[in-house]
Amino acid sequence: MTPQQPAAQWWRSAVVYQVYVRSFADGNGDGIGDLAGLRSKLDYLADLGVDGIWLNPCYPSPQADHGYDVADYTGIEPDYGDLAAFDALVADARARGIKVLMDLVPNHCSDQHPWFQAALAAAPGSPERSRFVFRDGRGADGELPPNNWQSMFGGPAWTRTTDADGRPGQWYLHFFDAAQPDFNWRDPEVPAMFEKVLRFWFDRGVDGFRIDVAHGLYKHPELPDWSGGHFNEHGFDQPEVHDVYRSWRAIADSYGPERDITLVGEVWVPTVTALAAYLRADELPQAFFFDLLLQNWDAGNFRASIDRAFAEIGATGATITWTLSNHDVHRAVSRYAVTRLAEVPEGIDPQVARSRPRGETDVARGVRRARAAALLLLALPGAQFLYQGEEIGLPEVLDLPDDARQDPTWRRSGRVDPGRDGCRVPLPWTSEPGSFGFSPADATAKPWLPQPDWFADYAVADQLGDPSSTHTLYREALRARKALFDPGDDAIVWLDLPDRADVLAFRRGDVACVVVFGAEPFAPPAEWGAIELASREPEAGRLPGETAAWLRRP
Ligand code: GLC
Ligand code: CA
Repeated sequence: MTPQQPAAQWWRSAVVYQVYVRSFADGNGDGIGDLAGLRSKLDYLADLGVDGIWLNPCYPSPQADHGYDVADYTGIEPDYGDLAAFDALVADARARGIKVLMDLVPNHCSDQHPWFQAALAAAPGSPERSRFVFRDGRGADGELPPNNWQSMFGGPAWTRTTDADGRPGQWYLHFFDAAQPDFNWRDPEVPAMFEKVLRFWFDRGVDGFRIDVAHGLYKHPELPDWSGGHFNEHGFDQPEVHDVYRSWRAIADSYGPERDITLVGEVWVPTVTALAAYLRADELPQAFFFDLLLQNWDAGNFRASIDRAFAEIGATGATITWTLSNHDVHRAVSRYAVTRLAEVPEGIDPQVARSRPRGETDVARGVRRARAAALLLLALPGAQFLYQGEEIGLPEVLDLPDDARQDPTWRRSGRVDPGRDGCRVPLPWTSEPGSFGFSPADATAKPWLPQPDWFADYAVADQLGDPSSTHTLYREALRARKALFDPGDDAIVWLDLPDRADVLAFRRGDVACVVVFGAEPFAPPAEWGAIELASREPEAGRLPGETAAWLRRP
């Protein structure tokens, strides 16, 4: 008998479900999601049919950017649990065949991290300051920031410190909030620390990491002014960063094929060509393909984006990691619901405007389109990341009260960019008033972000087993995906429809995936086979508008 071999590179075609821990499920009734809450929903996730979960950062953190300000890289945030709760979660997930990915934040830490506190207490030029990017200011008294770099959350990327004698001191760099100082990756202590952190969690059984701002880390050594376009060419995507991923890949691979560990980069670079460089054979196994997420609901735009993925990433042999939503962008339902774009306020980056569009919306239309997009994505070869709530067709909460908003983007943009809280509102598990089942019935606190009344209409409990629900569509699609597609079959062939520019269709193996972007119904040719699954009920063999289907030839 041959010994059972682990499935090689499980992550190449996996469906990973993103858990924004703070908003997923609250186990102890304090209004904040936690590991116990997540653990209690593992059967739900196993039944949905996902292969893995990615947890947003759950390390001790003052929560200035909800966990992306890490104060201790080898602990668990007390609001979420402790290391024992984490170990129990990993064990229970493993028992259900679910892999666990964590979120690594190597570009910056919290201003409460002991290293940064030591740096503030130490003198300019000290080894403590060398772990971060401290510089004297420009101007006669150093009153101007060292260069013109801007924070991704708005305002300058520099904050001035105050010396022990109360006088203004040096400035430090932070590409995000001032509570998130950037590391100096040219100080060897920094890479050494992160290698230890990786091993700490791999030794605990973690199956991989999503890597935050993976195109960051290194800065141009001279910190020159940037050109002021969309992308800071001196602050991001520096050549040295690739060596970091070579060393991390070697560490991950050293755990062997039984563990089959993955690393998934969050890489925002101007071109897909630049993205592909992070996916070279000895670098990151995976990086999100965000290009598709930035496309509006248009067949030609979708097709061109998918072609870019295959031409630039697929061609290198790397798997393509598809995603349409995460905790930084508007939920897909609401992006595709926009019927008329509002004017973009001055100062909002065009890419942000595309990922968080505002304007007049038609939510029913957004739901139809997001359901169709889900079938399109799940038919494509590669890995898939779903964001919690996508499986119930949850829209973005666009109208949170201003005083409820917590994303630092809101404050730092001078209240111009409403930020990312609207996709982070705690999930509706039931239609029960109170917290819609997010917290236990006897909870002592309200959910940390207010849930709108209409969340009741999307409750998980009411969608389970309802043949027309979005949950059922996802559940069936995840099963059908495993049954119908050969994961090793990583090519698609477009099926051209000269009369219908608004319809995309491609073949993968025996299956044709067809997506009607427009409102006109479409009758698939008989030779494509019979409809196996559709995002809306076909009418007399015709797919209604804004519908996708999988057809299988006999
Ligand atoms: C990434 C995260 C985002 C966070 C930022 C700073 O873009 O996805 O949520 O605010 O990095 O860590
Ligand atoms: Ca809690």
